[in-house]
Amino acid sequence: SLLVPCVQELVKNPALVVPDRYIRPDQDSPLISDDTLISQIPVIDMQSLLSKESMDSELAKLDFACKEWGFFQLVNHGMSTAFLEKLKKEVEGFFNLSMEEKKKYWQHPGDIEGFGQAFVVSEEQKLDWADLFNMMTLPVHLRKPHLFPELPSSLRETLEVYSMELKTLSENLISKMGEVLNIKDEEMREFFENGVQAMRMNYYPPCPQPEKVMGLSPHSDAAALAILRQLNEVEGLQIKKDGKWIPVTPLPDAFIVNIGDTLEAIIIINYLNLAFLCACLCALIIFAWQIITNGTYPSIEHRAVVNSVQERLSVATAYSLRYDGEVYPAPSLISEKTPPLFRRVRIEEYFRSRYARELRGKSQLDSLR
Ligand code: SIN
Ligand code: FE2
Repeated sequence: SLLVPCVQELVKNPALVVPDRYIRPDQDSPLISDDTLISQIPVIDMQSLLSKESMDSELAKLDFACKEWGFFQLVNHGMSTAFLEKLKKEVEGFFNLSMEEKKKYWQHPGDIEGFGQAFVVSEEQKLDWADLFNMMTLPVHLRKPHLFPELPSSLRETLEVYSMELKTLSENLISKMGEVLNIKDEEMREFFENGVQAMRMNYYPPCPQPEKVMGLSPHSDAAALAILRQLNEVEGLQIKKDGKWIPVTPLPDAFIVNIGDTLEAIIIINYLNLAFLCACLCALIIFAWQIITNGTYPSIEHRAVVNSVQERLSVATAYSLRYDGEVYPAPSLISEKTPPLFRRVRIEEYFRSRYARELRGKSQLDSLR
């Protein structure tokens, strides 16, 4: 990554005119027109997903959310309001450290971790209106010595708990998805044993011309699963559904979960199995349904926009396959009728190429087809 200015510092100048590098004629307008029917992503209840009585109906909801939206809100996930409040305070405190202190964590040239922006590969490239702090958190041996271990102790302790909780949550969700898709347990374990977790804290300062900039450029996530916590009440996340940008309004205490590229590449619905399971219900409807959904859990493009009055804070936590593993379609889903759609690729290679390019839609996954 190339080093770029800290936007939080830029906006300290009250007479600021947005520099040209942030002006984005290349992007769809951040504004959502009033005549767009505002629909909201589905809501999944983690407690129901884990309880014997309500599991089946909640699994069906999860399956629908993943197929139809690739995004959902997760409630009753077990993390308390008090803890989430603490997380917010700690992350806020981090971005409010003096520049002098934050410099300790400044990205090294060519590195993707640390404080700065993660996807800047050329001097000409347009920039996002945000400061990011990006780091690997799990497995522990992947932590860079100058980042996680050197964070202020109360932030570090909070993130340590958060990291463990989200690992469990990610594993549970992935295992539930595997269950509903009839992927063998041992295959899922082979993919995700010692999975890699990365955390990105995002700070979006207010912008004098919010309609001309992007907080975070449109992208799909490279990981298997991403779990976003919007820390304050300021909205900004938008997802692309059927060619339209839809704003997401997080419920209090909820997480926003989405399918990433590598999970899409693993999961290809086995038409035969699914059809067999559901045949008793209504074979015809299912047949039509499969054509509509094309049999996958899609990794959906999303972006963040900013506004002129309030800063916005979020933490995105990505869970990926084991670092020494490969991305390939789950063997139990492959048959003559459902041949693999993507070529096999080593996970390390996938991530290396990810950070060697700008954030741009879903171009990376498409390159594997
Ligand atoms: C956000 O909504 O702040 C960020 C979303 C993302 O990390 O993709
Ligand atoms: Fe993302």
